[in-house]
Amino acid sequence: MIDRATHRQSVLQLLHWNPVVALLGARQVGKTTLARDIADRHEGPVRAFDLEDPHDLASLADPVRVLGELRGLVILDEIQNLPGVFPVLRVLADRPGTPARFLVLGSASESLLRQGSESLAGRIAFHELGPLSLDETGLSTLKALWLRGGFPRSFLAPDDEKSLRWRLDFVRTFLQRDLPQLGVRIPAATLERFWSMLAHVHGQVWNGSRLASGFGASHTTVRRWLDLLCATLVVRLLRPWHENLGKRQVKSPKVFVADTGLLHALHDIPSIERLEGHPVVGPSWEFFGIETVVRRLGARRDQCYFWATHQGAELDLLIVAGGRRLGFEFKLTSAPRLTRSMHIALEDLALESLVVIHAGPREFPMADRVTAIPLARILDMVTPLSACKPR
Ligand SMILES: Nc1ncnc2c1ncn2[C@@H]1O[C@H](COP(=O)(O)OP(=O)(O)O)[C@@H](O)[C@H]1O
Ligand SMILES: [Mg+2]
Repeated sequence: MIDRATHRQSVLQLLHWNPVVALLGARQVGKTTLARDIADRHEGPVRAFDLEDPHDLASLADPVRVLGELRGLVILDEIQNLPGVFPVLRVLADRPGTPARFLVLGSASESLLRQGSESLAGRIAFHELGPLSLDETGLSTLKALWLRGGFPRSFLAPDDEKSLRWRLDFVRTFLQRDLPQLGVRIPAATLERFWSMLAHVHGQVWNGSRLASGFGASHTTVRRWLDLLCATLVVRLLRPWHENLGKRQVKSPKVFVADTGLLHALHDIPSIERLEGHPVVGPSWEFFGIETVVRRLGARRDQCYFWATHQGAELDLLIVAGGRRLGFEFKLTSAPRLTRSMHIALEDLALESLVVIHAGPREFPMADRVTAIPLARILDMVTPLSACKPR
């Protein structure tokens, strides 16, 4: 078992302050396992319902009465199967003394659950459980985590071949079974082709019209497909930062397959050797770096951006948090050099620091406020945002 202590602590903290906490993450990412871990450590009564189990679902035919009688911690797994329970939770959340707290688990993002959860505004907190990250698996696993990605079954598979097979199965099951269960009517083959297309433009700025013409579909249709894969947490967008600089800046998001293991499966890349010779290696490494930094810093997704001007200056990752602006560049080389683009980003965005994450062995200063740090040392060198004093 890999201990997911950081996520556990975040959830516990949210549960302390909110009567309802939603733990959201892609299928198979480890939600049920984490909830079980929290339940096992919980002092006091715990009751868990698996809403994918017809028996459990039937037992909630009268949710006001059944849930109303429970005390302590109540877990509702696969909540998307019973969206009608949200208004009930609202009533229960407002009881004096908070006799029960609810941990609800869902395989979709906030936006997909929003309809149901809107009635809970102000009483619900969300926590996203992503795939395993380097701070959870440890530096010695860096290459395996990069190749296989962070879905526990893929990462922990006995060998690379079994890991790849697990991911290919995941993709198929996700498209053929999980999405239809969520009420999605788009043919699995269409979405598979679309998802593979996204794997080819992984790390690029979203260009709906270009993708649309490849499909003979409208750009609103492909945008709908994109939103669907984002809402089910298998694709991720990084938003563009723009501000009044007197320069034209890119205003479309960048698109990433949400896990490097899935990315490599969509490209049918079985090993590190093959990955290293594949055109997607650069964008794959960049995304792995971004995820590692974001998790290490404990940054929220709404604090993360990229930045690019139409004149060609760019910054791979900008984190804006508590008045601080931290810049990150990712270079799959062992000897990164200071570029004009880095200078422009530093000045235009008034960065507090710019960290150039690279694949070499050494850390070294590159210029005032600019440091080169090996990805392999990221856990020692980058400190969580919460550890910094507010400025
Ligand atoms: N922290 C972990 N360490 C090892 N294996 C894990 C961990 N979390 C999940 N798994 C394994 O991954 C698979 C999916 O986990 P599960 O909790 O059922 O995911 P979800 O509820 O998000 O679909 C299970 O086989 C589970 O045993
Ligand atoms: Mg589950």
